[in-house]
Amino acid sequence: PGVSLEDIDEKCLDLTLDARAEPAPLNYRGFPRSVCTSVNEVVCHGIPDQYVLQDGDIINIDVTCRLNGYYGDTSYTFLCGEVDPDSKKLVSDCKEALYLGINEVKPTAFIGNIGYAIQTFAEKLGYGVVREYTGHGTGVEFHEYPSIPHIGQKNKGLEILENMIFTIEPMLNMGTHETCLDPFDTWTVRTKDLKRSAQFEHTLLVTKNGVEVLTDHDLLWHNK
Ligand code: MF3
Ligand code: CO
Ligand code: CO
Repeated sequence: PGVSLEDIDEKCLDLTLDARAEPAPLNYRGFPRSVCTSVNEVVCHGIPDQYVLQDGDIINIDVTCRLNGYYGDTSYTFLCGEVDPDSKKLVSDCKEALYLGINEVKPTAFIGNIGYAIQTFAEKLGYGVVREYTGHGTGVEFHEYPSIPHIGQKNKGLEILENMIFTIEPMLNMGTHETCLDPFDTWTVRTKDLKRSAQFEHTLLVTKNGVEVLTDHDLLWHNK
């Protein structure tokens, strides 16, 4: 509480430049900042502004760096101060949904298994799973083929192969899965019913027998 979204953007830019990396969002298709900050009913792509975080907010910080020509993309939803129990549960369930998706990643399984695992878990708990924004391949471009939906069916979609690199980044909503794009800034995505939304994201490497998480969230705390 008391920190502005611009403060977070500035810190992210400083840390990225210290690491001799580039902040990938900056100027990406006209995005004006170095990081996405999505508070409460904002699903994703929130633009850091002068908003000051309040006790009880939840905030997703989505960081993408480019180093030596390669992208790494990760996000985490943080609890700001004392957060109500339903929001806390949304956030922890969303984190679990990401890991349930990650557990499906291994060679010769299908992309549909990832979305199936996330959707069945989330909908049983009454959440809406966002459909318009998905995980994605990443590597020498920010967003590469293929798209990784967070809803799906078992054994449908592309086959997962060794050495693929892609993200999984489920967005779970307390209410409807439907979203609205802000017509003024053309970036901010909100839930249609303005209920809260959480998101977690990792960049993954498919290994011979499974998966390696390339974006370890614990590393974020080393600079604290
Ligand atoms: N990091 C987001 C993702 O997970 C994309 C943000 S695009 C931006 O795919 F321009 F808003 F930064
Ligand atoms: Co991503
Ligand atoms: Co991201």
